[in-house]
Amino acid sequence: EHNSITGLKVQATPIKRLCRSRSILTVNGQFPGPTIQVRDGDSVNIKVINKSLYNISIHWHGIKQKGTQWADGPEYVTQCPIQPGSSYTYRFSIQDQDGTLWWHAHSRWIRATVYGAFIIYPKLGVPYPFEKPDKEFAVLLGEWWDNDILGIMRQALFSGAAPNVSDAYTINGQPGDLYRCSSLDTATFYVDAGDTILLRVINAALNQQLFFGVSNHMLTVVGADAAYYKPFQTQAIMVGPGQTTNVLITADQTPARYYMAARAYATAQGAPFDNTTTTAILEYNSIPCDSNTGSFLRPSLPQLPAYNDTATVTAFTSQLRCLSSSDIKVPTEIDEDLFITVGLGFFNCIPGPTCQGPNGTRFASSMNNVSFVLPTRSSLLQAYYQNIPGVYTIDFPPAPQLQFDYTGNVPRALWQPIVGTKLYKLKFGANVQIVLQDTGIFSTEDHPIHLHGYQFYVVGQGFGNFDPNTDTANFNLVDPPERNTVGVPVGGWAAIRFIADNPGVWLMHCHIDAHLTWGLAMSFLVENGPGRLQSVGRPPLDLPQC
Ligand code: C2O
Repeated sequence: EHNSITGLKVQATPIKRLCRSRSILTVNGQFPGPTIQVRDGDSVNIKVINKSLYNISIHWHGIKQKGTQWADGPEYVTQCPIQPGSSYTYRFSIQDQDGTLWWHAHSRWIRATVYGAFIIYPKLGVPYPFEKPDKEFAVLLGEWWDNDILGIMRQALFSGAAPNVSDAYTINGQPGDLYRCSSLDTATFYVDAGDTILLRVINAALNQQLFFGVSNHMLTVVGADAAYYKPFQTQAIMVGPGQTTNVLITADQTPARYYMAARAYATAQGAPFDNTTTTAILEYNSIPCDSNTGSFLRPSLPQLPAYNDTATVTAFTSQLRCLSSSDIKVPTEIDEDLFITVGLGFFNCIPGPTCQGPNGTRFASSMNNVSFVLPTRSSLLQAYYQNIPGVYTIDFPPAPQLQFDYTGNVPRALWQPIVGTKLYKLKFGANVQIVLQDTGIFSTEDHPIHLHGYQFYVVGQGFGNFDPNTDTANFNLVDPPERNTVGVPVGGWAAIRFIADNPGVWLMHCHIDAHLTWGLAMSFLVENGPGRLQSVGRPPLDLPQC
């Protein structure tokens, strides 16, 4: 049941979708790329060969990379990109993790087509803590764009008009038969009547949170982001970019074809979004043929919430609980208490090709009012390890100490972000709490915030401004969900906790690529007492250079 993918070759490949063939980057000629299947405890060596014309790097989203910081993958953070014609072998091991993760390019917006599932099975002989499924499927939700993705990225970066929405959503790379020319481009999952099926749902979309459901079949949520959760039933799940959710379904309906579907959960007021629906088919083997038409029964769409149904999302999110409260390691005493604003705003700029937004501005995103820029002449980790000055500064500021309503109508002048490559240094072993606060300078919006190098516990979330006096008292320290990507609710906050036990340089960013490109990122430096040479091991000999 396990394969061992040892090489990923990135190359341009003609792929036909929505009536038109165009050249996209694929991996091993596949779109999406191959599924990597390993077990907890395995050592992994994956050689990435770049046969494309672009710089690329690959990130193993959710793998903790303890002691293998050079293998994390984000370009200019833990490595320089792999240049065209070069390769790099990522070497790491799976340490006390199992579940559904994924891998994706971590270079500009190249992950639009360069991604795949990363499945970690439990150690040999260790069963799932739920009924053994008869079948398992990875269900990768994505976005398809009719035009070149880097052109769309540049438009997002400079225009400030944000019409850059996708042309279709996809399930396992296929738009599904509701789109033009796509009746054959529909993923089908074959099941037997009576089967219990594990769906590993991964949101690989660039910029869109998505609802997902299966018509006539209730979903039983059993985990997310490589952690097990207390099971509960729901008609639909909401998955943010970067997140995964494991659900069980039972094939207990009349044998037929049923739609699976995904569509947008969109929270930015007034901003355009792709309001289309992607479908796949859950098909029971041995469906009786309709003798009149010779065709299968026609499927109906699952009931999915309205695109702006935040109440349903909140109710869903509040049901996510860690399976076992006995082996959770959520810190109760806090050494590092961070409050970090996340939000969209504007830069003032000189009108021209790189400043096409309204009134001499373009969009900017920031954390604590710093819009993050990646270095170009070295990765952050190399600069740290080799003590190269001038690549970053360790002065990530505290949140603006202004007395106002973060999510209210704030004068823009107070929120002109500064640009910088600012790191925040965390003491090794510290118990860390981070409250992430959405702000409303331009528009409130959900932000799926991903932390590299760690799994954390989501101990609380709410709407409006975080209030340390009342909100902290309601934190869940008993069975908080463990994740690597947390949705900061629109106009609200989320609080996470973890122990800073993994030295290295670790990016934290919004997994909506438009926001990341605008600067919604920061980086932690976790230094093991004695210093850099004790914190990070020797770089691999084939580590790409800038
Ligand atoms: Cu899934 Cu920094 O990314």
